[in-house]
Amino acid sequence: MNKYDSERIAGLLCKYKAQYEENTQNADVIVFNTCTVRESADDRLFGQLGNLRGVKEEKPDLIIAVGGCLAQSYGEKLLLKFPQIDIVFGTHNIERFPYLLKSRILTGNRVIELKNESTYDISCLPSSREKSFSAWVSIMHGCNNFCSYCIVPYVRGRQSSRPSSQIIKEVKNLVSSGVIEITLLGQNVNSYGKDLADDLNFPKLLKSLSEISGLKRIRFITSHPKDFNSETIKVVAESERLCNHFHLPLQAGSNKVLKDMNRGYKKDKYLRLTEEIYNMIPDASITTDIMVGFPTETEKDFLETLDVVEKVKFDNAFTFIYSPRPGTKAIKFNNNFSHKEKMNRFKRLVEKQTSISQMKNDRLIGKSFNVLVEDFSKKDKEMLMGRTKTNKIVNFNGDSNLIGRIVYVDIISAKAHYLIGKLKL
Ligand code: 5AD
Ligand code: SF4
Repeated sequence: MNKYDSERIAGLLCKYKAQYEENTQNADVIVFNTCTVRESADDRLFGQLGNLRGVKEEKPDLIIAVGGCLAQSYGEKLLLKFPQIDIVFGTHNIERFPYLLKSRILTGNRVIELKNESTYDISCLPSSREKSFSAWVSIMHGCNNFCSYCIVPYVRGRQSSRPSSQIIKEVKNLVSSGVIEITLLGQNVNSYGKDLADDLNFPKLLKSLSEISGLKRIRFITSHPKDFNSETIKVVAESERLCNHFHLPLQAGSNKVLKDMNRGYKKDKYLRLTEEIYNMIPDASITTDIMVGFPTETEKDFLETLDVVEKVKFDNAFTFIYSPRPGTKAIKFNNNFSHKEKMNRFKRLVEKQTSISQMKNDRLIGKSFNVLVEDFSKKDKEMLMGRTKTNKIVNFNGDSNLIGRIVYVDIISAKAHYLIGKLKL
């Protein structure tokens, strides 16, 4: 979601003839589009701002702008704490950014603009996309779930789904401009449409999109176990274009912790859903988000999380240590177990998941997959990097003119987090 917004900020700036500058030292304007989901994201921004203090002293005309979730949450406090910041704008003020920048340039005054809800649809703003063949498509904004640890509903507002007709039109336009892969975005895509009268639900939206000719791959993030259902699995199973990858955040395995997190499902329901996925789509991949160290989590609760990890055998998991966020409900729980204990659980979780990821990737050696070539590999610039429909990264040798195309690749070896392949000629 953050990257999606960044593409719009860049798109707006390009519309007003700004040029992208690779080297920060040469930039006239630096925009931070921030995240605040964990404290580490806040710390990264504060570190970067610290580094820029000296640069700004030497180059007083440099304009530093801070937007996004942290800006929405901290507001005025940012201007007070960091004299080097010129502009603060919230998550609902992206459209206004060029005007705020103009105001700063013309008046020399520092500017702040924060709104509590959007009065425009960000999807209608120009976008400067990283890849010509792949695009994010936001199907809804905000979130109504109020998981007790999470700051997102406070900084992004209530759920608001975009009418399906608008989404379908946007996707058709993208396809006619050369896009072959789209990723639908929403904090809880499975509750898409619940706030709209007489519109499609999520599986029906998926089905309509899967009928757009020229579109090769449709992905979606993020699913929520509370609203995820069999209809969605069935639609994915029936369409070649819908990627057989499900990102279904677990967060925790213990019913007590899930209740304290206000997640709205129990361990058994989660296990049933993942079983249903594997039954209906045996080659599907399932990834997840897991948090350890929630204030009410005991060792016994943590073992329930490990039990789900063992049973589901996720292809991959994003793992986090609970980070208290100001203003959220979880702040009221006593967060009194030691950092050492949290680290110990985190380490055990990562070790277990890494061995499962390796085991699942090993099973793919000798098989062949369609891979959408995205770029050069980050690990080895001589190699290309692409993704299978199951969202596995595959590195292989090939010519750079394959970037943006779907090729067939034999898997010859596997690491826990990526595969190594050979182009099938
Ligand atoms: N602390 C740690 N992790 C968090 N997440 C969200 N809020 C917090 C928090 N306060 C994690 C969840 C979510 C992912 C995007 O970030 O696992 O699914
Ligand atoms: Fe946060 Fe929960 Fe909404 Fe996800 S579903 S954005 S974790 S409140």
